Amino acid sequence: MFTPEMLESIKKVEATRAERMGMEPRRMTAEEKDTLLKAYHPDYRQDGFEEIKIGPNKGQKAPAELGHLLNSNSRILNEKIDLNKVDYDVDVLVIGGGGAGSSAAIEADEAGARVMIVTKLRIGDANTMMAEGGIQAADKENDSPVQHYLDAFGGGHFAARPELLRRLVMEAPDAIQWLNNLGVMFDKDAEGNMVTTHGGGTSRKRMHACKDYSGAEIMRTLRDEVLNRQIPVVEFTSAVELIKDDKGQVAGAILQNMETGDYLVAKAKTVIIATGGAGRLHYQNFPTSNHYGATADGLILGYRAGAPLLYQETIQYHPTGVAYPAQIFGALVTEKVRSLGAMLVNVDGEAFMHPLETRDVAAASIIRECSDRGKGVTTPLGSGVWLDTPMIEMIGGEGTIEKRIPAMLRMYLNYDIDMRKQPILVYPTLHYQNGGLEIGGDGFTKAIDNLLVAGEAVGGIHGRNRLMGNSLLDIIVFGRNAGKAAAAKAKETEIGTMNLDHIYKYAEDLKAAGVESDDVSPLLLPKYARHEREIANETVSA
Ligand code: FUM
Repeated sequence: MFTPEMLESIKKVEATRAERMGMEPRRMTAEEKDTLLKAYHPDYRQDGFEEIKIGPNKGQKAPAELGHLLNSNSRILNEKIDLNKVDYDVDVLVIGGGGAGSSAAIEADEAGARVMIVTKLRIGDANTMMAEGGIQAADKENDSPVQHYLDAFGGGHFAARPELLRRLVMEAPDAIQWLNNLGVMFDKDAEGNMVTTHGGGTSRKRMHACKDYSGAEIMRTLRDEVLNRQIPVVEFTSAVELIKDDKGQVAGAILQNMETGDYLVAKAKTVIIATGGAGRLHYQNFPTSNHYGATADGLILGYRAGAPLLYQETIQYHPTGVAYPAQIFGALVTEKVRSLGAMLVNVDGEAFMHPLETRDVAAASIIRECSDRGKGVTTPLGSGVWLDTPMIEMIGGEGTIEKRIPAMLRMYLNYDIDMRKQPILVYPTLHYQNGGLEIGGDGFTKAIDNLLVAGEAVGGIHGRNRLMGNSLLDIIVFGRNAGKAAAAKAKETEIGTMNLDHIYKYAEDLKAAGVESDDVSPLLLPKYARHEREIANETVSA
């Protein structure tokens, strides 16, 4: 399966393995990290960004593909939509059927609200489902939420919003118990204690996991709970714009049936945006570990309605995406592989960084190795470095890989690569948007009444870089809180006369700023998607 050049390089990796087993590469100083990031991290490549032309973040930069969508008009600008014809009328509308949306819906339902989830694909088609390594919580005796806070605050370059990060770490132990009680099958030892490991940048072992399909197991459980509670879920239907009322508060959303193209009106006293990430915008042409629907829709909806963004220019490139084989290019190789002892080494078998550096530093180190240093391994789609997985079996004993990361093992065996015996090739992949819509500690956006945000669509929880396992945690903590807060707020809310004035104002502002774009946003599906309607038309004309 490997090319002759790769096999030559593997010999060098094997030759240095015994010596590397006994050593711990030094960690970089803060200054070295800073220099490295500025030179090699994609967040610092000037040509990868576009200026936002109007709105609360006017004049700031965003990744070019996101900036372009923010500088585009609404999909429904020229549509005639009758807001008096209401198709759905609820207390709480949750946009997004992933982990944050489901957690929010469960708690809103628990609080007695009439809640509905709308999702452009199916419930569970979300980045939550793709998450592998685990979920952090300081619930062991040698640990504390304060320690968790310090790790995450430092890892995020001291930029996390304190009120958000505080909530994340303080409510983490309860989040784990909630999931455990709902039926998530966490890894436990013979005495029933949760098994925990390190992640990059953690000072304690606080990563709780369900082998290496933690997100799938959590999403399975949340989806079951939503369905058991008979919470309405409207699938294959996108939210394409928010509705506001004459008091300026959010009052629902315009939905679009993804198959027929028909528009629908959902009236709601409170709205929770839980639309997830942006990997499918493929910033700077990176491949992605994200699910098919990750196109930043919620950011567009919220921004057009007047909600500011925070840190929209900072993106997480997971250091270990698959570089080879091409069939799984960009897929996630969980950080747990590094946690269990696999070292990153170059074409000559040399370790070039400490194995548990934070993700931004690890990604930049790999990019440097493959570019200026010329120490990458050539692949059909570019280059990569080795993740020396046989070390895991040497450290943890035979059978560790099969027991702890069976999904990884199976993924590679499909391509005749046995990661127990051979190293694997990795390169950074677009994984997570650190930025998003700005919220307060209560989950509400600061600019628009009754609009809440939860999960990856939020900016500021993690600062400018996120530690492993804090995303599965934030979807639970902020999803649950948003559901409770939205249900409570709905009780005291009267909706006024609904309108879409903000869409027309946005169009006027774009025109006044001299922006001309025939493109519309939100994107809804990746650019390479073949839409149902196109397929249906092709079938008819054939
Ligand atoms: O590497 C991973 O398993 C990813 C985890 C995360 O993004 O939190």
